Amino acid sequence: MPAFTASAPGKVILFGEHAVVYGQPAIAVPLLSTRARATVIPDVQGSTGEIVIDAPQLPLTSPLLDLGQNHPLRAAVEQAAGEIDLSGLPACKIQINSDVPAASGLGSSAAVSTALIRSFSAFLGQRLTDQELSDKVFEVEKIQHGTPSGIDNTVVSFQRPIFFQIDTPIEFLSIPKPFRIIIADSGIQGNTRLAVQGVRDKWQREPEQYRKVFDEIGDLCRNARTQILGGNPDQLGALMDRNQALLEELGVSTPELESLIQAAREAGALGAKLSGGGLGGHVIALVNEGADQICQHLTDKGAVNAYITPVEERNPDS
Ligand code: PMV
Repeated sequence: MPAFTASAPGKVILFGEHAVVYGQPAIAVPLLSTRARATVIPDVQGSTGEIVIDAPQLPLTSPLLDLGQNHPLRAAVEQAAGEIDLSGLPACKIQINSDVPAASGLGSSAAVSTALIRSFSAFLGQRLTDQELSDKVFEVEKIQHGTPSGIDNTVVSFQRPIFFQIDTPIEFLSIPKPFRIIIADSGIQGNTRLAVQGVRDKWQREPEQYRKVFDEIGDLCRNARTQILGGNPDQLGALMDRNQALLEELGVSTPELESLIQAAREAGALGAKLSGGGLGGHVIALVNEGADQICQHLTDKGAVNAYITPVEERNPDS
């Protein structure tokens, strides 16, 4: 019996994180250079229900049934199995590897769940549509993040740039003029669950004030969409800077992230912001001229990794 492998990319939120949880739009793109991979290897000697997870980077090697009910890897297999009870599944080993950095705003949990659900479904002889896959990953994201908006599972499952809003059909974003961003790792782990909870606490205490912040983030996302569709990506720089200021008001930024954002700007980036849940993780900077020097400057100022990536519409299979 053959092995079944699937992979899924990381993602970057260009605009709108956090406000998206409150119904505002956000823009996200897949990060095709980093991927999570899952391989299901049938174990013809094993007994029914004997499933072993092997995820060396976590590190974790364990029978699936020994993982707690709410463990995301177990939840992902359950999503793939659907009606079938775990104890009735064919024996196999599931290997998981990922080069999407964990807890850093690049969608690592969604990428792992997506690769795992896609490969395990194929092992069971089911072919999921991207929407079915996204829905299943969303269920796992709920266990990990509490109240996710659904943006991560959507961009990672479809592997296309999206303009995303809760309860609205997905809009795939065309990018007539590709542009480049730098992605820089602060080296400090983010915590999406905590960041989302912190924003919720603030909003509950002062709903009027925070509603205005969410509304302004929504407006600037719509503006960013217009600039992307109109082939004016350079205009996104100022919008990134404003989005960052609003994320600071939401309390999800940190001095370390702000020092990298400042470094990117002083080295010539057109704009910069944190990306994802915040409280650590990555910053992104829009670049045009001198991108290599900006990367170098970011590394000099403490980024543990900084690299340039294109933002374009690309067929994930190409
Ligand atoms: O930190 P990440 O990569 O999981 O991004 C979270 C994005 C949020 O808007 C903060 C939460 C959400 O569910 O949309």
